[in-house]
Parts: sequence; C-alpha cells; structure tokens
Amino acid sequence: MRKYFVYLFLLFGVFAFQTRVAAQSYEFELDLRKNGAPIQSSMYGLFFEDINFGADGGLYAELIKNRSFDFPQALMGWKSFGKVDLRNEGGPFDRNPNYVRLNNSGHGHKHTGIENEGFTGIGIERGKTYRFSVWARGVGNAKQKIRIELIDSRNNPFEHKEIEIDSREWKKYEVILTPRRTEIHASLRVFLASEGPVDLEHVSLFPTDTWKGRENGLRKDLVEALAELKPMIFRFPGGCIVEGTDLETRYNWKKSIGQVENRPLNENRWHYTFTHRFFPDYFQTYGMGFYELFLLSEDIGAEPLPVVNAGLSCQYQNSDESCHVPVDQLDEYVQDALDLIEFANGSADTKWGKIRAEMGHPEPFNMKYIGIGNEQWGPEYPARLEVFVKAIRKQYPEIQIIGSSGPHSDGKEFDYLWPEMARLKVDLVDEHYYRSPEWFLSQAGRYDNYDRKGPKVFAGEYACHPGNRKNNFQSALCEAAFMTGLERNADVVYMATYAPLLAHVDAWQWRPDLIWFDNFNVVRTPNYYVQKLYAHYAGTNVLPLTWNKRSIAGEEGLYASSVIDTDKKEIIVKIANAAKEAKDIKINLTRIPRKMKISQDVELITLKGEADVDNTIENPTAIVPSTGTASVSDNVLQVSMDAESFKVFVMKYQD
Ligand code: AHR
Repeated sequence: MRKYFVYLFLLFGVFAFQTRVAAQSYEFELDLRKNGAPIQSSMYGLFFEDINFGADGGLYAELIKNRSFDFPQALMGWKSFGKVDLRNEGGPFDRNPNYVRLNNSGHGHKHTGIENEGFTGIGIERGKTYRFSVWARGVGNAKQKIRIELIDSRNNPFEHKEIEIDSREWKKYEVILTPRRTEIHASLRVFLASEGPVDLEHVSLFPTDTWKGRENGLRKDLVEALAELKPMIFRFPGGCIVEGTDLETRYNWKKSIGQVENRPLNENRWHYTFTHRFFPDYFQTYGMGFYELFLLSEDIGAEPLPVVNAGLSCQYQNSDESCHVPVDQLDEYVQDALDLIEFANGSADTKWGKIRAEMGHPEPFNMKYIGIGNEQWGPEYPARLEVFVKAIRKQYPEIQIIGSSGPHSDGKEFDYLWPEMARLKVDLVDEHYYRSPEWFLSQAGRYDNYDRKGPKVFAGEYACHPGNRKNNFQSALCEAAFMTGLERNADVVYMATYAPLLAHVDAWQWRPDLIWFDNFNVVRTPNYYVQKLYAHYAGTNVLPLTWNKRSIAGEEGLYASSVIDTDKKEIIVKIANAAKEAKDIKINLTRIPRKMKISQDVELITLKGEADVDNTIENPTAIVPSTGTASVSDNVLQVSMDAESFKVFVMKYQD
C-alpha cells in the first residue's frame, strides 16, 4: 500500500514537472514571406514642453533669470544694493521696457549693484568660458565702468572682468569670463566701478560651448541626449502651455521670434498649476522660441510638429464659455496657424518666410504637420477645429492636421471626439495616457482592432506612472511591453512621443520624465533607453510575429513584435517579459524568401534591472542597455528571456 502511494506521488510529481516545463517553453512564429505595414518615418519622437524648467533654466542655455527685469516683480531673481532704480522709459526694447539704473552710491567706500541667483544657482565649470553681455549706456558722463563677478555659494568672488561703457547711447557690451573654479550654485554680481550713473538692460550669461556654438544657444549636453535618441518627430511647444491658464498667457509663437531681447515675457502656467509644486519665479522669456525649436528639430533630424492654440484656454481651469474665443471670432488664431506655415515653409520673399530668412535660415524648414489644440474636449473643440481645418486645407492642402482626443485614454470625451475627428477628416488624432503599470500591460493590444480607414494615431503624450510616480525600471518595462503594440500596429499608429521630456532635479512640477538634469549633469532614465531602442531599431516594415496564431500581447507576461529593416538588412525582434520567471522561447523563422540568407549570429541588446531602481544624478548608469549575442540555427532563433526584462534581437540577412 505504501509503495502504491510512493508510486502515485512520483507519477504526480513527474506530471506536475512536465506541466511546468510545458508552461515555460514557448514557440513563436515569425513569418518572413511578405513585409507588412511600413513603419512611418515619423514613428518615434520627442514631445517638448517648457515644464520642469525644461526651457528657461534647462535646454535654453541662458544662465540669468529675469535678465530683462520684466517679471511682474521686476527684481525677482535679483538682489540689489546701493542706489538702484528700476526704470521703464527710454529703454532699448519696447516689448521689454524695464531696465535698471546704477546710481552713484554717494560715498567712495559704498557700492551700487545687482546680483542674480540664476536658476537654482548658476552652474559654472572650471576650464569653460562664459559670455557675459549687457545692453548699457552711460548717463551724463558717457565714460563709465562696471565690474562683473562670479560669486560662489559662500559669497567669494572667483572670477571678475570689467567693462568700459563708452557711450550715452544704448549699446551691447560683451566680455568672456574664464573661471578657474567649478561652482554648481554660483551667482553673478554686476556693480558700478565708476561715478555713474549707468543704465543696464538684458543682462545675460551663456556658456560659449553651447550646442553648435550658437550665441543664443542651447545646452549642449541636453541636446546631445536628445540627438542620441534619433528622434523622428519633434512636437513643441507643449502641452498645456499652448492653451495657457487664460488666453492671454497661451504660448504665442509670433512673440517668440525676431530679436531675442525684444521677445516679450510670458507667464509660465506651470509656476502655479500645482500648488504643492509652486514656482512663482517660472516665466517664459521665449529666448528659445519657434525659430530655435525649428532649428533644433532640423539639427536632431526630426520632423517639426508645432502645435497652436485652437481658441480655447485650458479647459481644466476655464469651464465658462466666455474664457474662450467665440467660433465666429477665430480669425486671429486661424491666421496665426496659416502664418506659422508660411514662417516655416514660405520662400524668403513672403512676409513670414522673410523673417525666418533674416533670422538666419533662408531655406524652408519643410514643416509637414500642425497640431491644433492640446487636450481639448466637448463640442466646443470640433466647432473651432473645423474652422482651422477648412482654412488650412484651402491654403496648404499638403499639411497634415492633428486633432485631439482629449486628456484621457478612454471614456465619454474620448468616445465623443474620435468620431468627430473622423468627421472632420483630420490626418492624425493625438491620444494622451499617463497611466499605471497595470494599464500599460493591459493595453498592448489596444490598437489591434482600431479602425484602419479613419485618421491615424499619434500617441502624443504617454508615460507609465508607478505608484510613487518615479521613473523606475518597472515603468520602463511596461512602456516597452506596451510599445510592441504600437509597433505591431504601425499601419494605424504613425507617431508616438513620451512625455514630459525634461525635468530639473531641483525644480520639477511633474514626474516621471524622460531626462533629468541639474546645473551640470544629465541623467538618462530607463524609460529613455526604451525609447532609444525602439527608435534605433525602428525598422522599415512590420513582420507578423505570433504565438498560437495570435499576437503576443500579454499572455503569460510576454509581449513581442517584429520588424524588418530593408535598408540595413536586419530582422529585428523585440520581446518584453513582464513575468517574474525566466522564459525560453523558440522563434521559428518561417516562409523565408528563397534568396534571403539569415546570419547565424544575432546581436542582442538587453535592458533589465530591479523594478524600483532608477538612474539618478549620483548613479546615472544603474540601468543601461547591455549587449550580447544569440544565434539562429536551423531557422530557429533561440531566446532566453530573463524575468522582467526587455530584449532586442537583431538578425542580419542578405538577399
Ligand atoms: O506633459 C504634462 C502635461 O500633461 C501636458 O502639458 C498636458 O498636455 C498633459 O496634461
């Protein structure tokens, strides 16, 4: 009897073991007979918004906050000492009227001057050079002198230069500072070193080593991080800032071009959007305006996708119809959109093309897309969008128009807007989703059944938000898993951009974000590497990859998609294993075209880590991709998926 039980136990054990083994080995089919839908050349890109000090204090390399003294509290960011007057008549820039007068202190041992705190301090690095510039004039006596000092956080000057003012007319003066110390939280002091008075306006300090060495330039290390992603599309300037807290404070592209000193200041709505992340000193100088943003798109090889206001201010903050532009009074807004297309694409003898040419870019920017409105909803949106669509189609039928499906990934507004977008025949519909890890994992099949005949999808803002709303490997893995569904459905998903893009570690309002930075360092998050792997291995066409004839969209924690790159001659398979167990997968390469010879050696890129680990300023490389190899034998790619990992397999072929 005992023997019988032992036998039964062993039999059960073997059976259980067999079931376990059977459950852990998987067999996928990769059908190579025919290339599927093309991957759009706009597929993976960037969404840029001036949030988290992403522009002023971030990408825009200006180091002085409130350089024109035009913040509503005119000396915000500045300390003044001695006899300083704030003036606003007779300045050189009518749209930024304020300037300061440094008067004689009245005593040989007293001083008059101003000190700027920068954006969370001024980051100054030894061995680098900095261009200080100022518009100035002598008052009374034309011959005057000012002294410029960099001050460390203990109030010690560690670099200085003097500038001779030689005119009673406003003039731009410049001097190069060459500090011999590094200071992450420096400040800038300017004081009168002659009798005075002296008037000062637009006090500016830039590193000379900006991206491409441009004077009104961008932070090089941040642009390098953007370029490294090989983005294909670049959406700007936001987000909610397109709408503004009210229409007065919406992003107005026309104010963001022309002479930098005369671009009027705009409020940045993110300074008070979240009172628990309140930044009353957050403004937009428009120093990095539309010209610079088009130029940046060009530099990093991405198609520019500007978004303009639809005549609606932020609907979260303005429920009353009177806060928006009435439908029959949209002319100015529609004209802004039409003029923008001319600014980007018109020849140098058109009104707006001429301005672009004068700013230094006679060639058109070749803009193909325009977004109308951000996260709008309700009937008020299609009513206004329709006016824009008619006008743009009439004058620029070649431009593709992007409409919105509202702020949510589903629900009443979303269900209302999609058919409306189809009715208005926009080319793409912008969808936004900031959702949980579970949501991302459950949505890998989201687009499998979308209408193939309607407008295409632009996943214009998305990010996985774990409970603590930090970037971590778990969120990156969920995004990687979800993105297999974007890739598989490249016939309907034409663009995707993670959001937001940038965040200063000491001045953020929203997280998670793709790239973090402080005054010196740039941190690429695990989410960044997911975007990078998708963009670098985007391929040219989808290939059908199935498991039991179904797409691989979450069953047993597995997510997978495949593309072929007919230019580079590569077959690429991306797999995310969200399960806590490792998995062995056989991928059968089937219906291989007669002439196609697939190399046995396979390049493998792996991204994995602990779920709650992120890259930080202290440890920026905790999670980075690693490379390895795999192999194909007898037309089978043998894949070993570690628990909770994302892998990209690259098979070279000849044909
Ligand atoms: O990306 C941050 C914000 O999220 C955007 O400004 C807005 O479009 C969305 O609500």
